[in-house]
Order: sequence, then C-alpha cells, then structure tokens
Amino acid sequence: MLSSAFALLLLGLQVRIASAFIECSVLDYGAVADNTTDLGPALSRAWTECVIPQVTTTVADNVLLYVPAGNYLLASTVTFDGAANWNLHIAGDIFLPFDPNLTGTMLTFENCENILLDGPGAIFGNGYWYRPDGDLTMFPNRPRLIRFQDCNNCEITQVELFNAPMFHVTMIGNSNIAHDMAIRADHIGETDGFDMSGNNNQVFSVSVENGDECVTVKTPTNGFVATDITCIFTAGCNIGSFGSAAVGVDVQNVFYSNVTISNSDAGIMIKSFPNCQGVVTNITYTGFTMDAAAYPLYISVFWEGGTDDTGSLEISDVTFENVAGTGTPTRPAVLLDCNKATPCKNINFNNIDLTDTIADQITNACGSGVAGLDAC
Ligand SMILES: *[C@@H]1O[C@H](CO)[C@@H](O)[C@H](O)[C@H]1NC(C)=O
Ligand SMILES: *[C@@H]1O[C@H](CO)[C@@H](O)[C@H](O)[C@H]1NC(C)=O
Ligand SMILES: *[C@@H]1O[C@H](CO)[C@@H](O)[C@H](O)[C@H]1NC(C)=O
Ligand SMILES: *[C@@H]1O[C@H](CO)[C@@H](O)[C@H](O)[C@H]1NC(C)=O
Repeated sequence: MLSSAFALLLLGLQVRIASAFIECSVLDYGAVADNTTDLGPALSRAWTECVIPQVTTTVADNVLLYVPAGNYLLASTVTFDGAANWNLHIAGDIFLPFDPNLTGTMLTFENCENILLDGPGAIFGNGYWYRPDGDLTMFPNRPRLIRFQDCNNCEITQVELFNAPMFHVTMIGNSNIAHDMAIRADHIGETDGFDMSGNNNQVFSVSVENGDECVTVKTPTNGFVATDITCIFTAGCNIGSFGSAAVGVDVQNVFYSNVTISNSDAGIMIKSFPNCQGVVTNITYTGFTMDAAAYPLYISVFWEGGTDDTGSLEISDVTFENVAGTGTPTRPAVLLDCNKATPCKNINFNNIDLTDTIADQITNACGSGVAGLDAC
C-alpha cells in the first residue's frame, strides 16, 4: 500500500519532469565528437534552432544545449546573446586548437538571465601553445575562456577548466554564482581564475591553480561573498587591480571566508594605481590559511610602481581576521602602502598568526591590531 503510493508519487514526478525536459544535442546540429570538427557553429545552430524556440519556463535546466560525452574541437568563438532560462550542459571534453588568429572569448553569454553552465565535462585551453616558454607577449590577443557579460542570476558549476590561453571565468552582472568546480593551469600568468563584478555575486567551493589571481573582485561591486576557496600557485584573492587613472571605482561589502592559499605571489591584496579615484570599503577577510604566501596581507596603491601619492581612492573599513600560516622569509606579513593624500582608514587586524616573514611595513594607513599601525 505504502510502496505503491510511493511509486505513484515517483511516477508523477517523473512525468512532470519529463514533460518539461528538452535536450538540444549539438550532434544533431553539425557537431562531430572527432576532436577535429569545429564545435562552434554547432553550438550556435543548436542554440538558435532548438534552445531558443523551446524555452517556455524559467527553470534553466528544462532546456539543455547538450554537448554529449566525447572529444570536441572548439576552433571558433561563440556568443550567446540575449536568451534566458536555459542550460549549457557539457558532458564532453572540449579542446582548443593552437591558432594565432583565435582571439576574443571562446564562450560568451551576453545580456542574459538565469543561464546554467554545468559539467561534468571539461574545457582544455592548451594555453601553453600561446605562451611558448612562458612568453606572454608572443600572442597578446590569445583567447579567454568564458565570459558572462551583463548577465544576472547565472550559475557556473561542475565543469573543469584547464589551461586557458588567457583568463578563465569572468562574470559581470548581479546575483551570479560560481561554485563546485576546479581550474588548473600552468603557473605562468594572465590566467585569472574567477573575475567577478556586479552586485551580490558569490563564489564557493572552488579550487584554482594557475599562476595568477584566484578569486578576484572587480569594480563595480556591491555585495560579494566567497567561501571555501583553495588557491594553489596563484596571485591570491584580490580586489582590483584598477587601471591607471580609473575613476568611479566602487567596491563595497565584500566578505571572504575559509580560504587556503599556498605557494602564492600574494595572499590577500587590494591593488590599484596611485591616481585612481573612488571607494573601496567594508571588506572582510576571515579564516585564511596561508602556506608560503608572499605578501600575505597587502594593500598597495603602487602595485605597478609610480610615486605620485596625491590620489583619492578611499580604502577604508578593511578587516583581516583569523589568518594563520606562513609567509615568505624576505617579505612582510602585513604591507600597507597607501596614498599620502588619501590614507587607508580603519584597516583592522585580529588574530593574525603568520610566521616566516620580516617586519610589517605600513605607510599612510591607520587602524588597529598590528604593531606600528596608528589608531585612526
Ligand atoms: C584533441 O586535439 C587537441 C589538439 O587540437 C589535442 O591537444 C588533444 O590532445 C586531443 N584530445 C584527445 C583526447 O585526443
Ligand atoms: C591567420 O590569418 C591570416 C590573415 O587572415 C592568414 O593569412 C593566416 O593563414 C591565418 N593563420 C592561421 C594559422 O589560420
Ligand atoms: C573550508 O573549505 C574547505 C575547502 O573548500 C572545505 O573542505 C571545508 O569543509 C570548509 N570548512 C568549513 C569550516 O566550512
Ligand atoms: C558590510 O558588509 C557585510 C557583508 O560582508 C554586510 O553584512 C554589512 O551589512 C556591511 N556593513 C555595512 C555598514 O554596510
């Protein structure tokens, strides 16, 4: 009795799900899993001819743009501009070719709403071909991997990303989420993991190994949460950088917790040029474990040099707490290098236990919690 009622319930659920579920396989639109045929045109066709016409609900994973298991070559860039409520489901492995003419972003989602990009597949960027011997200058226009541009309520998860020629994931917009995924790249540079901007975005349960920034907040941002983050051979978790003479910088209400950073060029860093204008305020970093992090706790408005200290970027209310582990023996645990005209204000440290470092260096900042930092 009970069990048949349960079976009926299950059947009901299945029917409901099945009736809404639509799968647009790239194999029906020209793709071949031969690692030779360009997947780009098939993605565009399947999206235009199958996904867009069939989206009728706001449940993203009711309509799948589906890349089945198998090996695919992605030799051209694809832009999905404008449609909402669908799911790019990558079960296969996608490989980028070496093509010096390939530029832009391989997968761009633009002006979109409620898109899910998920795995369990992977994208192999083969970035080392574009940076022979680590040379970043040979192919300066080499492609980026994934970009959400002016997109809200989007999600990326479960897909593994390897060795993008340039940056891996950029999300611009509001209420976007990246979670439960890994990025692995050579330790070379210009290969940021997650670059996030907009309001109320989140990154959680991700692991990044890449020789560049791990989980980074760009301007403008109001409300950002990152938690359960592992950064290996990265340039740490950053805010910025803000370009030379950037005006209107606006980053507020940022919260990072439970982050492990090992073998890193920087741990936590807020970085700008001295001539930037704007506001960076109410930033909290809590629960960091560092292992051989150069410059573990670092705010610099001179990160790319420059000596003019008349800038007006206001960096204030930054809290570093519960940070433990090791720095590197030639560098300070805390380095604050701020503008004379606009000192960093309310930079507070609580329960910092970093060893293997030299004495802290503090210029034009006030706050509490470490020796040599004047109260505001
Ligand atoms: C697919 O092709 C790329 C070169 O375009 C190559 O690097 C990669 O190893 C190939 N993948 C497989 C599984 O053969
Ligand atoms: C790149 O583009 C140039 C000019 O269109 C062309 O001559 C060249 O063959 C292309 N290279 C490759 C590898 O496709
Ligand atoms: C911290 O993050 C790690 C790695 O993501 C995770 O395994 C662990 O459960 C998290 N710890 C807490 C207390 O949330
Ligand atoms: C500071 O940011 C946190 C989120 O990190 C938020 O909960 C809090 O309300 C903010 N404080 C102010 C004064 O805006």
